[in-house]
Amino acid sequence: MGEAVGDFGLIGLAVMGQNLVLNMNDHGFTVVVFNRTVSKVDAFLDNEAKGTQVVGAHSIAEFCAKLKRPRRCMLLVKAGSAVDDFIELLLPHLEQGDVIIDGGNSNYNDSERRTKYVESKGLLFVGTGVSGGEEGARYGPSLMPGGSAAAWPTIQSIFQSVAAKSDDEPCCDWVGDGGAGHYVKMVHNGIEYGDMQLICEAYSLLKNVAGCSHEEIASIFAEWNKTELDSYLIEITANILAHKDEDGSPMVDKILDKAGQKGTGKWTVESSLDNAVPVTLIAEAVFARQLSAMKDERVAASSQLAGPKAAYKIGNKDEYIESVRQALYASKICSYAQGYMLLREAAKEYSWKLNLPAIALMWRGGCIIRSKFLANIRDAFTNKPDLLNLLLDDFFKQAVDKAQSGWREAVASAAYSGVPVPAFSTALSFYDGYRTAVLPANILQAQRDYFGAHMYERTDKPRGEWFHTNWTGTGGNITSSTYNA
Ligand SMILES: *[C@@H]1O[C@H](CO)[C@@H](O)[C@H](O)[C@H]1NC(C)=O
Ligand SMILES: *[C@@H]1O[C@H](CO)[C@@H](O)[C@H](O)[C@H]1NC(C)=O
Ligand SMILES: *[C@@H]1O[C@H](CO)[C@@H](O)[C@H](O)[C@H]1NC(C)=O
Ligand SMILES: *[C@@H]1O[C@H](CO)[C@@H](O)[C@H](O)[C@H]1NC(C)=O
Ligand SMILES: *[C@@H]1O[C@H](CO)[C@@H](O)[C@H](O)[C@H]1NC(C)=O
Repeated sequence: MGEAVGDFGLIGLAVMGQNLVLNMNDHGFTVVVFNRTVSKVDAFLDNEAKGTQVVGAHSIAEFCAKLKRPRRCMLLVKAGSAVDDFIELLLPHLEQGDVIIDGGNSNYNDSERRTKYVESKGLLFVGTGVSGGEEGARYGPSLMPGGSAAAWPTIQSIFQSVAAKSDDEPCCDWVGDGGAGHYVKMVHNGIEYGDMQLICEAYSLLKNVAGCSHEEIASIFAEWNKTELDSYLIEITANILAHKDEDGSPMVDKILDKAGQKGTGKWTVESSLDNAVPVTLIAEAVFARQLSAMKDERVAASSQLAGPKAAYKIGNKDEYIESVRQALYASKICSYAQGYMLLREAAKEYSWKLNLPAIALMWRGGCIIRSKFLANIRDAFTNKPDLLNLLLDDFFKQAVDKAQSGWREAVASAAYSGVPVPAFSTALSFYDGYRTAVLPANILQAQRDYFGAHMYERTDKPRGEWFHTNWTGTGGNITSSTYNA
């Protein structure tokens, strides 16, 4: 079986797994690897891992025997039943205090369940978000571990060594109990959906309202990358827009406008509905992908449904471009504010003690949403751990205030031009709704009481006292009080 030489074990040698192993090897850890298709282990040792300290195993028993205690066994296999299968295969070979780590894109509910299950066997479980793709896995991913808190001290040093660094700090910290790590990864992906949609809308306004060419937009994004918007997604968008097809025309013009999705954005929105948190921007980003996917229907409708009669005229072009930038920045602030509202609510629901500043730091580097801006979010929650809402932090309060006239102009220009900007608009509506002391929900409550006798609270009476009005004067309740709307 061999000596227990391994610091860490990894099962699943697809590209992500291989890259993470090589990254750990670079940092001086001896990694034991296993793959269900055993020939893959030898192929890896003979090729990518040639000349490294990586140790191969040809069975689960050998894999476990070659690990120092407490054993740390990470799974990078397809999310779903494969994870449960490997847990069952590992359990007989592990001892108290050993740790099973799932680094796949698992549903947080599964991680919540697996933590309890593995703990019931006297072992420890970690469900960790891993972001940054293959490149991140190789040179520094963002890692978001949660699960059995007692596992953290045994994996901390290796996780923080291999994680991306931002200002010398690792983009990895303990997230919380149970499914917290995978939950935070899910919200990360939802925010990624939002960030991407916002960039698409900015591009659309620059192209369709300001009439900029692709070259111009590429250099505008490169400029924006030097401002508060400095981020991976802005940077790659600048590169994408500058890219030419073989015939010299902009590559983006050849790409069909029909978006795909894998479902983590949808999970985030489902969770926001379950927790009654208005995560409107991510929801619009998911819907925008769905509308884009109705390509044939849109093409047919485009020749039948009219837009505005007259073209909207922008004033000064540079000022307009700046307005679009302000719209992107302010909307992004709202999106992160909503994402953090969801994290806070989920933490209550699942009794997780989420470390909010650490989450911003985990997203600061390594992952797709990495940006300069996340350092400001980290500061906001470090300065005030009980901050109710990111929008109420002094830095962001002032940033939105400074951006709002450009933001409003960009949204108005889109409405006048008939250019869809669902994420910019929903962010602005959310901002205006959140800062409005009196919303028209008084009418809504009156309607519910009128047709369903659902009753209402009064502005001139203490909260929690409920009233019903005899609206029609015809007596009795208008309709059955079992009608719930
Ligand atoms: C084994 O390796 C292949 C890559 O060759 C990978 O696709 C697969 O997911 C791995 N599976 C497991 C369970 O180890
Ligand atoms: C964006 O900014 C980063 C530094 O923050 C820089 O490394 C990168 O090259 C910039 N990208 C573009 C396309 O300007
Ligand atoms: C997680 O479980 C809750 C409660 O059962 C459910 O409402 C929610 O949709 C689940 N989330 C996902 C992503 O499956
Ligand atoms: C509603 O008002 C009408 C007219 O004032 C009255 O006749 C009726 O009794 C009232 N019904 C109830 C349930 O109070
Ligand atoms: C009218 O509805 C209210 C609230 O459901 C209920 O308390 C009351 O008894 C109802 N009155 C009549 C006359 O049915």
